[in-house]
Amino acid sequence: MHALRVVAALFVVGVAMLVYALWGLAGRERTVPVVAVAPAIPVSRLSEVQPVKAIKLEYHQPDLPPGPGHDVFAAQCVVCHSPRYVLNQPIFPRKTWIAEVHKMVKAYGAPIDAGQEKEIVNYLVSWHGKEDPLTVPNSPSK
Ligand code: HEC
Repeated sequence: MHALRVVAALFVVGVAMLVYALWGLAGRERTVPVVAVAPAIPVSRLSEVQPVKAIKLEYHQPDLPPGPGHDVFAAQCVVCHSPRYVLNQPIFPRKTWIAEVHKMVKAYGAPIDAGQEKEIVNYLVSWHGKEDPLTVPNSPSK
């Protein structure tokens, strides 16, 4: 008799847990925000739904004008990124180019010596920079 009561009690507890779990799930469903999901179309059939348009973007590397420092710039400043990346910068004053070039050496390990740093700064300032009013032209120093 006693065992039967225990089984009955366990059964009641089990049912209660089940109801609680289902109620919880249902509750969660009610609170989940409805997200609009695009119908699942296999990638291979996407073109049937929407014709594929190819767009070809032209890619031009910037022309690097000849002049003193061109060669060292073109050899050393394109090892880790494109020259375009450098020349997308604004027309910097000399002191900013000095800091930029020096940062490449100090922070990123560009393998150039101090003389090459100066050459590169002069080259950049000559056509993609401007002289600072208070610095002597063609003598990058810091
Ligand atoms: C050893 C690798 C390396 C070399 C060589 C190198 N750079 Fe960089 N350069 C970097 C990295 C890394 C960044 C940062 C990229 C980023 O933030 O996404 C960067 C960014 C730049 C930027 C963007 C502005 C900035 O400060 O993040 C400029 C301008 C630049 N480099 C100029 C130069 C010039 C001029 C030279 C030649 C002296 C040069 N780099 C050589 C690694 C290099």
